[in-house]
Amino acid sequence: LIFIDHSGLKTTGGQYYSPPSTVRRQTFTDNCYPHPKQLREDRMNTSDRLERLKNLREQAKLGGGTEKIEKLHAQGRLTARERIGLLLDQDSFEEFDMFKTHRCTDFGMEQNKIPGDGVVTGHGTIDGRIVYVFAQDFTVLGGSLSETIAEKICKIMDLATKNGAPVIGLNDSGGARIQEGIESLAGYSDIFLRNVMASGVVPQISAVFGPCAGGAVYSPALTDFVVMVKNNSYMFLTGPKVVKSVTHEDVTVEELGGADMHASKSGVSDYTAASGPDAIAYIRKLISYLPQNNIEPPPALNSEDPVTRTAAQLNSLIPENINEAYDMKEVIRHTVDDGDFFEVKEHFAPNIIVGFARYNGMSVGIVANQPAHYSGVLDIDSSVKGARFVRFCDCFNIPIVTFVDVPGFLPGTAQEYGGVIRNGAKILYAYAEATVPKVTVITRKAYGGAYCVMSSKHLRGDINYAWPSAEIAVMGAKGAVGVLYGRQARKEENPEAFLAEKEQEYQDTVANPYVAAQRGYIDDIIEPANSRLRIIRALGLLENKRDSNPMKKHGNIPL
Ligand code: HXC
Repeated sequence: LIFIDHSGLKTTGGQYYSPPSTVRRQTFTDNCYPHPKQLREDRMNTSDRLERLKNLREQAKLGGGTEKIEKLHAQGRLTARERIGLLLDQDSFEEFDMFKTHRCTDFGMEQNKIPGDGVVTGHGTIDGRIVYVFAQDFTVLGGSLSETIAEKICKIMDLATKNGAPVIGLNDSGGARIQEGIESLAGYSDIFLRNVMASGVVPQISAVFGPCAGGAVYSPALTDFVVMVKNNSYMFLTGPKVVKSVTHEDVTVEELGGADMHASKSGVSDYTAASGPDAIAYIRKLISYLPQNNIEPPPALNSEDPVTRTAAQLNSLIPENINEAYDMKEVIRHTVDDGDFFEVKEHFAPNIIVGFARYNGMSVGIVANQPAHYSGVLDIDSSVKGARFVRFCDCFNIPIVTFVDVPGFLPGTAQEYGGVIRNGAKILYAYAEATVPKVTVITRKAYGGAYCVMSSKHLRGDINYAWPSAEIAVMGAKGAVGVLYGRQARKEENPEAFLAEKEQEYQDTVANPYVAAQRGYIDDIIEPANSRLRIIRALGLLENKRDSNPMKKHGNIPL
């Protein structure tokens, strides 16, 4: 039996009051956790106060209660605190606002207050570097966003932005808290504003666990990277039932907003994790490539991989047949430190590859056409993917290494109707405005507009190399000869032999790296096996690069 003393917290058993919700509801009509009168201290000694603090903390740590925690675990999901525990270095987490509660008094909400409400916020370290973190707690009203949850999240976003440290959001929320109405929407807007203000100032990373709906998806969408969990996390503006009622479409949650869909079709997600812990491990590694803010250089580690390591395999990587594919990831792996390439958006627009790696310990962003997918052609999705990555690197002082093998932009009505002009312009814009060190290696084709776009000298590429197999031209030999000699060929006795001869002539005269090298558009033609050394030297050369753009409020990228 518990005797509740309204003027203090003392119970008959000498323990401080930590009642189950049913008892609270019978006892207090206007509040439950903790009633302000319960906080009076006049009859407490020091050890009582410490004991009370301990009890309140224990209560807060339970969130929505053991039953709801067990339900989460049964679904293969972790609690907010368990996720934070995996994310941060051991014992580094310090929590803010553990005792903050919502202020809603509608729909009986005054009877349903949980310490900390539906989010755990604070700071800690990853490999010794400070990060700010919030983790939504699905056990408290589905992690739905109240006014006070928004205040808690905004507090840490403000601290992170002012103090120059990354913000990591672990999202698991049913969206705006329906009971709070406009206060919740206002709270979301406050968060969105801070996402935008922090953009390009500190890295912002989101993981999405569980079903995130409504406003819960827009904050992640505004951040730099989004990680989702296979078969266990969903992002959609409106769920399948609303979709059915509005568009009459039958669609499952997985099809509508599952991790695989967002990783391959919408491009919202950057990585599909196999599990919650895998998502968190990805974030820890991602952070290792990033500076704390836009003033710092990215972290440089000691590398054991020799700078002079050659890769003889690269000398024979390019197939004799110009139309045959090869895997550009081989080039990346053979040149970067320890073959370790951290890919981003692997399954979205695989005709372009983006990700992070290190050269002699220095963190770099890599952008590469992928001849193994659609010949590495640039299209709408690959242009947007490349542009966004280049802009991220430029925001955070991360040098960009670009590997080029691109036959041009994809022609056709689907692309033109979809706005390949507007979207293709994005990657052009991104490379042109980027002032970070830019090193380019053309391995094979660099045709037409795609040559200009892919970090060419003309867009302020700093050091541009080509392999001897490079073909830098307006278009491939076949297309060019067709345009120039098609009519004449029809009059020839043996048109095929005539065209073949002209193609060879075109190849020898134009489609090679030497014409560009003669103009100085290519700084050197390098042996593929030595690419690692040449890239590392180029990056070293550019370590103190200073470049800037004209003063302006902001540019007008063709969105
Ligand atoms: C208040 C909510 C809630 C919400 C869930 N809960 N979403 N409470 N506001 N938005 C509560 C449930 O009532 C339940 O409480 C507990 O959280 C767990 O929810 P369940 O439905 O039991 O869980 P599950 O079956 O896993 O389904 C999760 C879900 C579903 C898919 C997220 O709850 C759902 O569809 N919620 C509504 C999603 C939505 O439409 N949000 C959009 C809001 S509008 P109890 O007490 O029973 O445990 C919005 C606009 C913002 O966000 C726009 C800004 C730009």
